[in-house]
Amino acid sequence: MSEKIKYNDMLVFDSKEPIYLFKDWLELAAETEPNNPNAFALATVNSNGAPSVRMLLLKEVNSDGLVFYTNSNSRKGQELAKNPYASMCFYWKTLARQVRFEGLVREIKSEIADQYFASRSRGSQIGAWASDQSQELFEKNDLEEKVLFYEEKFTDVEVPRPKFWRGYRLKHEKVEFWAEKTFRLHDRYVYDRSGNTWKTKRLYP
Ligand SMILES: Cc1cc2nc3c(=O)[nH]c(=O)nc-3n(C[C@H](O)[C@H](O)[C@H](O)COP(=O)(O)O)c2cc1C
Repeated sequence: MSEKIKYNDMLVFDSKEPIYLFKDWLELAAETEPNNPNAFALATVNSNGAPSVRMLLLKEVNSDGLVFYTNSNSRKGQELAKNPYASMCFYWKTLARQVRFEGLVREIKSEIADQYFASRSRGSQIGAWASDQSQELFEKNDLEEKVLFYEEKFTDVEVPRPKFWRGYRLKHEKVEFWAEKTFRLHDRYVYDRSGNTWKTKRLYP
């Protein structure tokens, strides 16, 4: 039996607020994952109900929800504008644990997005301007030329946040914690929001 499964044998789900438990797991993952412990899959749906999923990075989390940043013109941005219901899934191989979130996604205040954008490296800021995320790139050179264009445009000045580069917060309504156990008899523990509190239950694996 591996160490991580022995560790999962000692799990307790006694947190009143799922975000506290999630933060504990995220902190543990930060010690064990070789990179991007904050990476998660975000699933959105289009107006026909067809789902799409991609990886993103979590930038902030508290009891108000989970924040990420992206281009509002991207496929996910357009899907969220039409249908704000989304789902997130974190998985940490080193811990053999998964956490799933479901809820409504709303844009965060532009001042907060400005602050976060200002904290990014200049290269990433220029990259945000240069990338028409999810649009067809006809020539690979077009991207490099756009990078050069914005580098020149913003020479000697701070790079402002493009209006299309936005922060989003998923307000969690349902959270499921999953931890690997032997013989696939895994632990599953679900929190469902119920007014100001949470209802909890276990699920068969
Ligand atoms: C580990 C990882 C982290 C990523 N983080 C982000 C992110 O925080 N924001 C973002 O817009 N794209 C991020 N991406 C790129 C997205 O997965 C995706 O390719 C891009 O956002 C376009 O998605 P869309 O066409 O479905 O809108 C990341 C990709 C990986 C593999």
